[in-house]
Formats: sequence, C-alpha cells, structure tokens
Amino acid sequence: MASGATFATLFSACGGSSPTSPSGMASMLGVLAGRFAGSGVQVNVAGSAVADVGGAVLVQSIAGVFLLSRTSANAFTAIDAVCTHEGCTITGADGTTYVCPCHGSRYNRNGQVVGGPAKASLRQFATTFTDGVVTIAL
Ligand code: FES
Repeated sequence: MASGATFATLFSACGGSSPTSPSGMASMLGVLAGRFAGSGVQVNVAGSAVADVGGAVLVQSIAGVFLLSRTSANAFTAIDAVCTHEGCTITGADGTTYVCPCHGSRYNRNGQVVGGPAKASLRQFATTFTDGVVTIAL
C-alpha cells in the first residue's frame, strides 16, 4: 500500500490537469493466446484469470485481439480490444472496467464507453464454452 505522502507527491507531479491518470489506476491484464479455427478463436481458460468467475484477460490471435471476461460458471463476454478512439490495444483493467493505455478511455465488460475520449462502443462477440475452452465466434 502506498502512503498518503506518496499519493500527495503523485498528484502534485501530475499538475492537476486530469483527475484520473490513464494508466495510474489500471493494472495490466494477463494475456492468453487464442487459436484461430475457421469461424472462431478458441481459448483454453485453464490456469488463467478467466478460470474464475469475475476474471478477465486479453486474448491475442491472428484473427485479432479480444477482451474476455467470465461472468458466470459457463458464461463469458468477449469484445474487441482495439480502442475506438485511435486504435490502441486495450491492455488494462480497473476492477470490472477496461482501460485504454493511450488516452484513458474506459469501457465496461459489455464494451460500452464509461469514460472518454472514446465515444463508440467496442464490438461484442458471441461465445460458447465447452470442456474448458471458450470459442469466440467471429
Ligand atoms: S486510443 Fe484508446 S483512449 Fe485514445
């Protein structure tokens, strides 16, 4: 835990131009490799953050990058990880909010903007879950 003095130092160094730092509050998502298989991207969730309900990861594949979160034992949400502002890959999370590292846009787990500068939602993809493998339908 940071001390109060450390926080005071950070805020004064920031110049007060923004109440939230783009990367200061977010932690990096873990990364999983997705396997492109015809009409979808397959992700083995064993041993990752999405092995547990509530977890989220960044999925990288030749078919694109996706933000995958687990909403229940058998349900996941998958959304495009390319920020709709200027195209950075979204790599951070602050609780259940995804955070873009470039200018701090924030999205909920369904891809809706909850903090700009981005204005457009991220595309959401259907998912299925079988034998420990999530398939993101493209
Ligand atoms: S590219 Fe994501 S906030 Fe600008």
